[in-house]
Amino acid sequence: MSDIIKIKEEYLNKLQEISELKDINQIKSELFGKNGKISNEFKKMGSLPSEDRKKVSLDLNATKNELQNLIEKKIKDIEINEINLKLKNEKVDVTLPERTFSRGKIHPVSQVIDEISSIFSEIGFNVEEGPDVENEYNNFTALNTPENHPARDMHDTFYLDKNKKFLLRTHTSPVQVRTMLQGKPPFKIIAPGRTYRSDSDQTHAPMFHQVEGLHIDKNINMGHLKGCLNYFIKEFFEVEKIKMRFRPSHFPFTEPSAEVDIGYELKNGKIIIGEGDKWLEILGCGMVHPNVLKNVKVDPTKYQGYAFGIGIDRLAMLKYGINDLRAFFETDYRWLSHFGFDPLDVPSSYRGLSR
Ligand code: PHE
Repeated sequence: MSDIIKIKEEYLNKLQEISELKDINQIKSELFGKNGKISNEFKKMGSLPSEDRKKVSLDLNATKNELQNLIEKKIKDIEINEINLKLKNEKVDVTLPERTFSRGKIHPVSQVIDEISSIFSEIGFNVEEGPDVENEYNNFTALNTPENHPARDMHDTFYLDKNKKFLLRTHTSPVQVRTMLQGKPPFKIIAPGRTYRSDSDQTHAPMFHQVEGLHIDKNINMGHLKGCLNYFIKEFFEVEKIKMRFRPSHFPFTEPSAEVDIGYELKNGKIIIGEGDKWLEILGCGMVHPNVLKNVKVDPTKYQGYAFGIGIDRLAMLKYGINDLRAFFETDYRWLSHFGFDPLDVPSSYRGLSR
């Protein structure tokens, strides 16, 4: 038997048996590599007598082609096998139960801040922000509350240093100061944010939220204040009419000052706003004190206006029937999934939104 036939039979057998790519590559180099058996047969042809050369060359090329074809087919078969194996192992079992997933909820306070911002934006208020860590000047002195003023004690302030220069802001009113110092009148802004006082019970938390309002222009009076608050409360609670009362009060930074209560009633455990004979305090307000305007370089003989500070958490409790303020800040996921808002269920306008 000629060498060529021997090689052919040997390798046809070998190829029958193997099933891995690495073995095929091995065979490829054994046959067609630099010192491969077929390559060597080609080299040998030069020394053959010329009358044999033609036949040998025909045989050799036929063998080479046959082996190469088989090798290629083998490679394809192996690849197809691998893919089939993969498909079999990675089959999707559509009968399996789906994986549980939970969608986050928007906290009622964030929701209410968005609602408030949208209502005031519609009547021309810009939204401003200020830092939670304030200096004593912006939080008190500039707001006509000098050192030793009793109002400083009433605020149960968290001071951050021995000299009482830095503190956690006790209200959002310092944003009035920051806004007016940075700009020129007229001003028409709201400033929602976190505020802090050392106080804790069912309706007070050491951290709570307020929204400050400030409108300064040449002819702003108390009537504008009343009209603005009336409009806001009706829009916020989505009611046609409300009961609102101004009680005389005192804030060092407003004169005259008032606290505002809204009337409500409890019907079958539900709070109905605008009816009944119960009153709930929701905000402090007044005409900005001339001393405050002077402190922020606004001429009080030309400009005047009103300011208010609304307790956001209370509004959220009232609107969405939540009766313990402390639950807002306990980060209890079950509470949030009950009282929170679906982020994907946001209508084009925040108003008219129901849970
Ligand atoms: N800053 C006051 C408070 O926290 C509320 C207020 C704001 C009163 C603006 C008058 C004007 O109690």
